[in-house]
Amino acid sequence: MLRRKGAIFDLDGVITDTAKYHYLAWKRLASELGLYFDEKINERLKGIGRLESLEIILEENGQNFSHQEKEYYANRKNQYYVEMIKNITPKDILPGVTNLIATLKAWGVKLAVASASKNAPTVLKNLRIIEWFDHVVDAGRIKKGKPDPEIFLVAAQNIGVKPWECVGFEDSAAGIEALKRAGMLAVGIGDKEALKDADLVVKDLTFITPILELFF
Ligand code: BG6
Ligand code: MG
Repeated sequence: MLRRKGAIFDLDGVITDTAKYHYLAWKRLASELGLYFDEKINERLKGIGRLESLEIILEENGQNFSHQEKEYYANRKNQYYVEMIKNITPKDILPGVTNLIATLKAWGVKLAVASASKNAPTVLKNLRIIEWFDHVVDAGRIKKGKPDPEIFLVAAQNIGVKPWECVGFEDSAAGIEALKRAGMLAVGIGDKEALKDADLVVKDLTFITPILELFF
């Protein structure tokens, strides 16, 4: 069986629960603008860039804004989000993550973060885990967002591992699609139905090590 040599992690909703802060920040902006927004629409935003997320909310509401307005309101959402992530500490690392990373390191697996978020460096710094990773993809340099495979291919290249030798960890449908298109093994974290295209779906990362032993 093929032994995998790289592990690529999404950040929001995988390493820490910042997915809930993205949701709350959009919710606040939407209510200020009198736009409808709920958990179901939010599911479509996971893994998707800031401006594109606003475009989805507008589309769901049958509305359109000028490019300038979109920039303005996406920036306002980001201000709410930045305020929320200010107080993140290592205590906010999700269950199972620390253990999993330590195990992968012990197995000699190369590690990367592939997050669509321009706030990823701040979140990683606040969690004090930036040094765990061999590479963190700079979201600002990626031309096409998830579900395009680019971000995962760039991550694999930077850790010197072939795409098909990588396992990716994702909580979003867009991210799972991106991983599959990159030719990687996709582990979904969250809801089985929302992540039905993943090779494997788990509720969280506790107790995943025995399963991963089959792949690495
Ligand atoms: C992803 C989140 O990780 O980053 C999305 O899942 C978010 O919800 C995207 O929109 C972009 O984040 P940011 O911090 O650059 O607005
Ligand atoms: Mg995510």
